[in-house]
Amino acid sequence: MKLHIQPLGQTLSVDSGANLLEALRAAEVPISYSCMAGRCGTCRCKVIKGQVLESGREATLTNPHADDYVLACMSAITESCTIEIPEPDEVVNHPARIIKATVVAIEQATHDIRRIVLKPAKPLAYSPGQYVSIQFTPDHIRPYSMAGLHTDDLLEFHVRVVPDGRVSGYVDQALKPGDAVRVTGPLGTAYLRRKHEGPMLCIAGGTGLAPVLSIVRGALESGMTNPIHVYFGVRSQTDTYCTDVLAQLQARYSNLKVSVVVAVGAAAQGQRTGLVTDVVDADWSSLEGFRVYLCGSPPMVNAATLLVTRKGVAPEHVYADAFYASA
Ligand code: FES
Repeated sequence: MKLHIQPLGQTLSVDSGANLLEALRAAEVPISYSCMAGRCGTCRCKVIKGQVLESGREATLTNPHADDYVLACMSAITESCTIEIPEPDEVVNHPARIIKATVVAIEQATHDIRRIVLKPAKPLAYSPGQYVSIQFTPDHIRPYSMAGLHTDDLLEFHVRVVPDGRVSGYVDQALKPGDAVRVTGPLGTAYLRRKHEGPMLCIAGGTGLAPVLSIVRGALESGMTNPIHVYFGVRSQTDTYCTDVLAQLQARYSNLKVSVVVAVGAAAQGQRTGLVTDVVDADWSSLEGFRVYLCGSPPMVNAATLLVTRKGVAPEHVYADAFYASA
């Protein structure tokens, strides 16, 4: 049977039942993947014609007229079909690995945010904006985004301590320097698109600043000259952190503009007030041509997605990671 691949216009002959991701990899088709187990979403592609058999879904046959996105790593080719792979020129492949790491530092960034620094036993290759799963103990496992770059010796994470949070409570109360943890990854599709030369908009809510810092540093330190607009939204003045890092980056790179937005109460000099999405809304009548990176709580990410698509950003150019408060 035939597998047609768009936008490449390539056609492969494949065996019935072949795994879609394996078929693409064997033919060296540029597709991003990471976990190869249906967890990270990196290998998502669209079925344009025909159908594939995707495991792990209730109704396993994809409907070509409705929800036609599938995870290639979880799909078998059962008939000739046409698929569309996303952004073939922006492929990143960092197959997920399990790496031992040691806790180097635990610092208080705000009243409820802890900055955790790990030293990995081996270097971890990842793209700016990706995340890993950290296993503190067999019972305490959560995903967290890297705040740095893969060229850094250490891995930095920002953990919000949630009231009654089982894992963040463990991080706050029990974790200590010298502890051994396990890191699995990298995972995630909200990574820096390096081929794009137009403006970038990054909206971070709370600890969503971690992947945004990674994306911004990754872009600037690799010489990207795109205009980069960062909006860092927090609830109150006491929730701000890393503003010195943002200010230093802004002073050094003329293409970076940072707005710190405080939702409730007074703001410090130079900061703005209101909901971060309202501030973005007021600043931009059109966002056509932008690539947008969103990291924060699901309500913020949802509101921001609606806002930026309404202002002209193509949905496939919105890269989002929502952080869930239960962590
Ligand atoms: Fe397919 Fe992760 S979901 S590689």
